[in-house]
Amino acid sequence: MEHLERSPDAGERVQKVLAKAGFGSRRLCEDLIRDGRVAINGDTVGLGARLRTGDALAVDGAVISTLPDAVTYLLNKPTAVVTTASDPHGRPTVVDIVPGEPRVFPVGRLDMDTEGLLLLTNDGDMANRLTHPSFGVEKEYLAHITGSPGRASLRRLREGVELEDGMTAPAKVSNPSPGLLRITIHEGRNRQVRRMCEAVGHPVKRLVRVRIGPLADRTLKPGHWRRLSVNEVLELQRATAQAR
Ligand code: URA
Repeated sequence: MEHLERSPDAGERVQKVLAKAGFGSRRLCEDLIRDGRVAINGDTVGLGARLRTGDALAVDGAVISTLPDAVTYLLNKPTAVVTTASDPHGRPTVVDIVPGEPRVFPVGRLDMDTEGLLLLTNDGDMANRLTHPSFGVEKEYLAHITGSPGRASLRRLREGVELEDGMTAPAKVSNPSPGLLRITIHEGRNRQVRRMCEAVGHPVKRLVRVRIGPLADRTLKPGHWRRLSVNEVLELQRATAQAR
């Protein structure tokens, strides 16, 4: 994907750049600027401002990607669908569920048997920031487990569990009902939640991701997807603006 074409001298009006980057109509983008929420290279700008090559554009303090035609979908992944752009075994993939054009790819990975929220995007920069551990974007899961964990198991899950690829980082863990755990992690290791639960003696029977950073949607049915709203794009940009 190519970056915006800008004349090196004149630059491009900020409201136009914001609109192309998915922040809503030109009008809405002008409102963002009027409200003092937009900055170039750290300085709040007014309506006439132009963005030149190499400038860092920020909304609400978060540097944003200025790719034109950036598209990000939120999918409620059903089970039995593979998180990949193309599967050599011909199994159904998450990419088959969303529109084919523009081409998008999954951000991170959910196991074949895991359900729940998954982002797909054509914005490589956004995808990197969402998956790179240094940005520490939280992912929240509901894990239906076997048995009922005691206080010691919950403490181990919270403080860190020794897995074959090392200790897990501290996690937020609650036990809203017997056999159900709500687990929030900010790492993205392979089958991490399943391995954590297994390690404390409570294998997972069903796993659902219910939140990615600021994004949750209890009304999106399995197999359904939608484009992110302008505010959600903003919130996501904000959540990935700062490394830990
Ligand atoms: N942890 C897992 O074990 N599986 C997933 O799909 C995601 C997180």
